[in-house]
Amino acid sequence: MVPRMLATPAKFLLRRLGLELRRLQHEDLSVPSIPDGHLYRPHYCPWLGDSEFERYYQIAAPRTLVSRHRCHVLYTMLQQCLDVPGDIWECGVYKGGTAAMMASFLAASGTDKKLLLFDTFGGMPPTDPLHDLHQEGDFADTSISEVKEYVGNAEFCGYHQGFIPETFVGLAAAQIAAAHIDLDIYRSVLHCIEFIWPRLSVGGMVVFDDYGFRTCPGARAAVDEFFKDKSAYPLCLSTGQALVFKSVA
Ligand SMILES: C[S@@+](CC[C@H](N)C(=O)[O-])C[C@H]1O[C@@H](n2cnc3c(N)ncnc32)[C@H](O)[C@@H]1O
Repeated sequence: MVPRMLATPAKFLLRRLGLELRRLQHEDLSVPSIPDGHLYRPHYCPWLGDSEFERYYQIAAPRTLVSRHRCHVLYTMLQQCLDVPGDIWECGVYKGGTAAMMASFLAASGTDKKLLLFDTFGGMPPTDPLHDLHQEGDFADTSISEVKEYVGNAEFCGYHQGFIPETFVGLAAAQIAAAHIDLDIYRSVLHCIEFIWPRLSVGGMVVFDDYGFRTCPGARAAVDEFFKDKSAYPLCLSTGQALVFKSVA
């Protein structure tokens, strides 16, 4: 506790250093009169305790780099796209955390959609030093057999192991309802959206996990480059993700 007579000079000095002294808010921000009032912190944050989402998030959590609020965006993406024609794609699977969460959601929904999963399952391909901070071989501590075992739901999950875009060969006729692109690096993200966007159904969407992360400047560069002459705009989320909705063919 700073005595009042010391607070003003201290504030002044801190300001000179570009800092600010403020009293912490201790009030209870929950709103008992509203359903799920405890999730108003101060706005409604369903990712902090919605019980259905929580069940799915607990499947992702042990094997994902994707935070709780970003997983909630993926969960909402799937809910939104269940009636959109096409399958669900994930490019960038690593240990299978978000893939397992999405597979579990699709299994419970009773949809006939497939989940297509693309990764080397053995680490990053060569990166581009002009755009990327990641290095070749990052994320090598995984394996396709472990991922298959964790994700389960083999009857509707398809694995495409190798380098994107080579693993897109043979998929020219694909129809996609939603895609989660979590590749972190420039060339991979660009190749991916060049292939996916023309095959994405109207009403479908793409979530780019790493768009706003300072560790992945190449991911944002690729997204911005691709969409600069399109009639769709990346919606930059406070989670760090970007979401692009396809409203016209
Ligand atoms: C951040 S990790 C994915 C994280 C994952 N979604 C999760 O739940 O934690 C990025 C992955 O992208 C993969 N990747 C990047 N570029 C690739 C490419 N061109 N082809 C295949 N995999 C690639 C890497 O191997 C790595 O596993």
